[in-house]
Amino acid sequence: MYPVPVAGVRELLVTSGSTMAAAEVARQMSEGARNLSLSGHVGFDSMPDQLVNKSVCQGFCFNILCVGETGLGKSTLMDTLFNTRFEGDPAVHNQPGVHIKSNNYELQESNVRLKLSIVNSMGFGDQINKEESYKSIVEFIDAQFEAYLQEELKIKRTLHNYHDSRIHVCLYFIAPTGHSLKSLDLVTMKKLDSKVNIIPIIAKADSISKNELQKFKIKIMSELVSNGVQIYQFPTDDETVAEINGTMNAHLPFAVVGSTEEIKIGNKMMKARQYPWGTVQVENENHCDFVKLREMLIRVNMEDLREQTHTRHYELYRRCKLEEMGFKDTDPDNKPFSLQETYEAKRNEFLGELQKKEEEMRQMFVMRVKEKESELKEAEKELHDKFDRLKKLHQDEKKKLEDKKKSLDDEINAFKQRKTAAELLQSQAQQSGSQQTLKREKERKNSGFL
Ligand code: GTP
Ligand code: MG
Repeated sequence: MYPVPVAGVRELLVTSGSTMAAAEVARQMSEGARNLSLSGHVGFDSMPDQLVNKSVCQGFCFNILCVGETGLGKSTLMDTLFNTRFEGDPAVHNQPGVHIKSNNYELQESNVRLKLSIVNSMGFGDQINKEESYKSIVEFIDAQFEAYLQEELKIKRTLHNYHDSRIHVCLYFIAPTGHSLKSLDLVTMKKLDSKVNIIPIIAKADSISKNELQKFKIKIMSELVSNGVQIYQFPTDDETVAEINGTMNAHLPFAVVGSTEEIKIGNKMMKARQYPWGTVQVENENHCDFVKLREMLIRVNMEDLREQTHTRHYELYRRCKLEEMGFKDTDPDNKPFSLQETYEAKRNEFLGELQKKEEEMRQMFVMRVKEKESELKEAEKELHDKFDRLKKLHQDEKKKLEDKKKSLDDEINAFKQRKTAAELLQSQAQQSGSQQTLKREKERKNSGFL
């Protein structure tokens, strides 16, 4: 038997064929739907069971982030909460910054499987300068949102078996000083409150007296309010849990004690911390708020924490990220703006920018070429000038040498002439000398004979 559409719905379906937006059709359909009573059992009352079966089959995931200074009992509390032993070694505390370490576990209770991630902020508060301590925590949370967003934006999505690593709750461990919150606590919680559900807890609550604890709780809450830090409020809109959640909201921050040690009290083994003066029972509500925390975190509000993470914190991240990328739901006239239109607008904007950039680059190229050209011309002119100068210098030098050569030639000629004249004179002198000698010889001979 096929369901017959009621009159109003059929009318709407006809109109939807033309221009009506799908969302508007859906809205009008739901408004126009008539209430009918069934004459027999159909079976859709099993929807909740179907949902439960499917969820049980898929299993659940829950990711807890523990933030708090070194040695506040973070690991011990996790072990106590889940009744198991997670990590063996204590965190290292000699690193320059805060390091995030995530450990994944698979737990099973009855037939329900839980993929649990415990994320630890190692070295938080160990540094002298604590200004940047929150940064790596914020970055880690954002990175998990980004990974989910990237998966969502993929064409082929596998969200049904995607390992969701988004942080569902941040347990913020406050040192049991009895005074006030440290600025590190306030700054970190303020930076985290729009990204994650924060549940503040007073750690090692056995080291603070009952009266002091009450005052400390009031002080912490008033400081959180005055600094505008939004912590997670257990939801009171579901009437099945409204009462317990309302009461528990008044107990925040929970003062907890952790221990994996079991001690025999009466004839029962109980988790407790034993001191020379007595025993602190972890699960005794007169001793601490451990049971309240476990109830609120795991038994009552685990699903709400997961839902708030998705609908509030992830949604905010996604919105900011998409807006940053230029996507918007409405145009400047407040008219709906589809993804296609956004894409086209963005593409045109991008192409415009690309053209502008191209034009700028072209102009820059032309300018650079002109610059280079004028530089080259300048260099060429300088070279020509230099060549002319050198040529002139060479000619001058050549002329000087020629003049010098000429004067030397003249000198040589004059010298030669003088030399010839001197030689002539000398030979004449020699000639006249030898004639006189001959004459005297003749005279002497002549006188001798006489
Ligand atoms: P790091 O990982 O090194 O930062 O330390 P942590 O915060 O994980 O602390 P851890 O659980 O290792 O506990 C540190 C010490 O505190 C251990 O000796 C625990 O036994 C002790 N401790 C843990 N919880 C409590 C508590 O509730 N009260 C008291 N008094 N001691 C506790
Ligand atoms: Mg630890």
